[in-house]
Amino acid sequence: MKPTRILLLLVAVVLAGCDRPSSFSSPEMEAASRQLVPQDPEIAAIYGRSCSSCHTVAATGAPLTGDASAWTPRMAKGMDAMVDSVINGFGGMPPFGLCMDCDAQQFEALIEFMATPGASHD
Ligand code: HEC
Repeated sequence: MKPTRILLLLVAVVLAGCDRPSSFSSPEMEAASRQLVPQDPEIAAIYGRSCSSCHTVAATGAPLTGDASAWTPRMAKGMDAMVDSVINGFGGMPPFGLCMDCDAQQFEALIEFMATPGASHD
């Protein structure tokens, strides 16, 4: 085999092994999460300018809006812990989820909305 062939073979093997981590959701789930909007206009505005930029984009690693399987284990920690995660920042999420003037009640409403199953049945 020529060295270039071996190189191509190696690239193919590496790419094949580089499948999406199973925690990442499908493009359909991502598209479905983009259809969901909070009913309360104030919460919808915050969601639109802050949370949705990550929570509808699987590549960010954020649990997608409406994806029950992603949210259920997190919600098991309890709402207070969830709000704390947002305020303090958590993993790839910056403190306050980029909503610096949000209060705990607004975070709670946003979390409840995102954790409500919806995107999973399209
Ligand atoms: C810059 C991207 C980004 C933005 C903006 C963002 N998040 Fe997140 N969020 C993430 C990521 C990434 C995770 C998963 C972190 C992890 O598990 O390591 C996450 C996780 C969470 C969690 C779960 C925390 C836990 O303890 O499991 C909650 C709740 C949450 N986000 C709420 C929000 C809310 C509410 C907003 C809007 C105010 C928001 N996020 C905005 C990226 C973001």
